[in-house]
Amino acid sequence: MINIPEQLIARLKNASKVVASTGAGVSAESGVPTFRGQDGIWNKMNPEELASVDGFMANPQLVWEWYQYRRDLMDKVEPNPGHKALADLEKMVSDFTLITQNVDNLHRRAGSSRILELHGNVTRNKCLACDKPYAEEIRLDKGLPYCSCGGMIRPDVVWFGEMLPEREIRAAFAAAEEADLFFSIGTSTLVQPAAALPFLARRNGAYVVEINIEPTGLTTISDLFLQGKSGEILPEIVRLLR
Ligand code: OAD
Repeated sequence: MINIPEQLIARLKNASKVVASTGAGVSAESGVPTFRGQDGIWNKMNPEELASVDGFMANPQLVWEWYQYRRDLMDKVEPNPGHKALADLEKMVSDFTLITQNVDNLHRRAGSSRILELHGNVTRNKCLACDKPYAEEIRLDKGLPYCSCGGMIRPDVVWFGEMLPEREIRAAFAAAEEADLFFSIGTSTLVQPAAALPFLARRNGAYVVEINIEPTGLTTISDLFLQGKSGEILPEIVRLLR
């Protein structure tokens, strides 16, 4: 079992603003594949084909089949102890903000409520043309879905080359600037702008803690690197904080 420094628990008790920023690694222990690394999705699939507007325009059927497959997978998996620990932290720490790049909805299902979803949420759909949310069930056997405006319906996730939702990204940068304790958890810290958040927090005086099974580009500037699985380390932090 990993040794959590007492100093970290003291910092958590005294912090006035705590931010946790998560990536695909927090959901790995639930059975959701990560994007990079040995079994990463982008090693086997082409992101330009499956996760870009151009790819969608070229072959909407293929992109929809891929997202329906991922939705089915995400419906079948459960939040893991790492997600649950983050939901507990929200209740235990007075000012806690959770930022995630994940679209899998597992943080909400684990009970977190203050979440900034930077890359959208795979359970939602919207119109490609007018942006209006689309609440009806997607049934590919009945054909591709269209909006009342005539536009094509697409998953409400951020694709390569697209802007992030403005409210979320603004709030995430503000939270990183104000944080005195910043956790970066289960992310390769490669995809911008989310990757900039821990660096910004550090420059503004935050104590930066990284939790990952392996070092990343953030590790050398982080104040504390806890190497291991988030589903084991986060519950231990919560246990010590109680
Ligand atoms: P990546 O797949 O790039 O990175 C996952 C990270 O999690 C790696 O650094 C792993 O070492 C780490 N990891 C794996 N299992 C872990 C565990 N059990 N505990 C802790 N860490 C673990 O995923 P992201 O950084 O989230 O964007 O990728 C960022 C974005 O790239 C995604 O949101 C997605 C993707 O393309 C879009 O689709 C827009």
